[in-house]
Amino acid sequence: MLTKLSEAIRKKPIIGWALFLAVMVIVFLLGLFAASVTERRAEIASIFNNKKVEFDTIEAKNELWGLNYPREYETWKRTADMDFRSKHQGNMEDDVLEQRPDMVVLWAGYAFAKEYKAPRGHMHALEDIRNTLRTGCPENVGDGPQPATCWTCKSPDVPRMMNEMGIENFYKAQWGDLGAEIVNPIGCADCHDPKTMDLTITRPALIEAFERQGKDIKQATTQELRSLVCAQCHVEYHFKGDGKYLTFPWDKGFTVEAMEAYYDSVQFSDWTHALSKTPMLKAQHPDYELFMMGPHYQRGLSCADCHMPYKADGGIKYSDHQIMSPLKNMSGTCQTCHRDSEEKLRNYVYEYQDKAFEIRDRVENELVKAHVMAKAAWDNGATDAEMKQALEDIRHGQWRWDFVAASHGGSFHAPVETQRILSHSLDKAMQAQLKLQKILFAHGVSGDVVMPDVSTKAKAQAYIGLDMKKENENKAKWIQTVVPKWLEKAKANNRLIAES
Ligand code: HEC
Ligand code: HEC
Ligand code: HEC
Ligand code: HEC
Repeated sequence: MLTKLSEAIRKKPIIGWALFLAVMVIVFLLGLFAASVTERRAEIASIFNNKKVEFDTIEAKNELWGLNYPREYETWKRTADMDFRSKHQGNMEDDVLEQRPDMVVLWAGYAFAKEYKAPRGHMHALEDIRNTLRTGCPENVGDGPQPATCWTCKSPDVPRMMNEMGIENFYKAQWGDLGAEIVNPIGCADCHDPKTMDLTITRPALIEAFERQGKDIKQATTQELRSLVCAQCHVEYHFKGDGKYLTFPWDKGFTVEAMEAYYDSVQFSDWTHALSKTPMLKAQHPDYELFMMGPHYQRGLSCADCHMPYKADGGIKYSDHQIMSPLKNMSGTCQTCHRDSEEKLRNYVYEYQDKAFEIRDRVENELVKAHVMAKAAWDNGATDAEMKQALEDIRHGQWRWDFVAASHGGSFHAPVETQRILSHSLDKAMQAQLKLQKILFAHGVSGDVVMPDVSTKAKAQAYIGLDMKKENENKAKWIQTVVPKWLEKAKANNRLIAES
């Protein structure tokens, strides 16, 4: 073979030169490759060593962190995107009350009946809390209706202000009082230590809930922290006492029954229902708690495993900070562990959701009936003593429904637990109706109570007596006049980086 080659070169020297050149090119490319590997290694090390900016306290301005960690920052910024829809969810701002007007009746007498939108990405958190009718139109210091506690899960300015004001004083202030301070949407300083970049817990409510259970959150492993940073906000909570102190109801455990037992034992209610006069509980978003009851948590997964998958940029592996539905990028999420096709995996999710939502919609209907029947009973002279048991069924039934409805990922995170909770919810709603029917009979009402037409959001809001035209006009004016002043002040005080 070699003799044949040298023979060929002797006959045609150009072959020799061609070979020589080819070898040179290969050597050159190998050299380039080696250099780039060393360079990337150096780059990874230097990301931490050559920070462009150093922080010694909580820095709320995400743009500054972006100078040090451009990959995480650029993906984080994409939580502003509104381009994805799965069968039931997505990163858009859907009007849930328009889709399911029964909810207006379920929340009669409470601000949620005015407006409730589906969640979208973290970068929208401040825009959305300012724009919702639920926060009203506070103009002067001390104006309500909401306490500053409402800011708690919206911004890295929250831990900054808690450091400055003290935790209790923060919660005690009014929401509008801090409008010019809470200006950067959920970001780096919510989850990271500014010096070490370690994951960290910045919200006192989570630390305190652990303490009351005799646990020290500082002992949490990294894998636990990859869920616990989310559990600072994606959990059930209540505003305790006159100081509106943010408190997680976990003292008796994490199940829907354990939290209910806690609320019942301290006789807590979020509001009194406008139709049925029931002392109600509003479930918030027990995503973490429900997730704990599901198969993935029990196999040791964390939220970040599905909602912040690893990405590669050349030789650098980093966490995708575009937190959203894992169905947008299934090869990076589900398929890192499962070998099924995308279609099959997607259908598992849809099947769990469809089945849960089928029962959820039934429950909504039956709970509406129970509230309207209770109103009829009161109107016909029922007494507190007669109504007590029926109202307790309504309270417990709606709490279970809301626990599922408000945990947006729950039907996938914990499908069996979700169905269990919904069956009890349906049972309580029917028990309430049975009791109310008896009371109505006793007061001479026979036959069915006539149900109102609440087939659209507008009809339902008119039925419960809301003046939506006035609500919307006031809010629109407030958004145009008060919000720009907050933002101007924030920029003047170097709290907010002006958009270029
Ligand atoms: C909601 C919580 C959360 C927010 C907000 C957040 N991160 Fe992270 N970050 C994480 C988690 C979880 C990890 C994975 C940590 C691990 O596995 O050790 C991570 C990892 C990182 C890492 C380590 C390298 C990597 O990518 O895995 C850097 C650097 C980082 N984040 C920067 C940022 C920056 C910059 C911002 C703001 C633009 C930010 N993070 C916002 C939760 C968050
Ligand atoms: C500081 C509070 C806070 C933290 C920490 C936080 N979230 Fe959120 N999250 C929110 C709020 C508030 C929204 C709704 C924002 C809106 O609709 O304006 C939201 C929305 C979401 C959404 C919906 C996004 C979409 O595209 O529809 C997902 C998914 C989510 N969060 C997951 C997580 C995960 C996973 C973590 C932890 C890695 C986490 N969040 C940490 C407060 C938080
Ligand atoms: C095994 C993967 C997996 C894990 C782990 C996981 N999730 Fe999810 N999550 C999903 C899927 C799938 C959906 C449904 C997305 C859809 O329908 O588009 C979802 C939905 C959500 C939603 C609703 C998003 C929306 O647009 O309304 C939130 C919020 C959420 N998850 C938060 C969390 C939190 C917080 C944790 C940890 C406590 C967590 N998830 C753990 C897979 C996961
Ligand atoms: C980090 C690994 C990991 C990721 C990511 C992951 N899973 Fe899983 N999943 C598991 C493990 C482990 C089990 C339990 C398997 C078993 O016991 O056989 C499981 C179980 C399941 C099951 C069966 C649940 C049950 O009731 O037992 C389904 C369905 C499922 N996963 C779907 C998904 C989907 C859809 C995604 C993406 C949104 C996903 N998984 C992401 C590891 C993962």
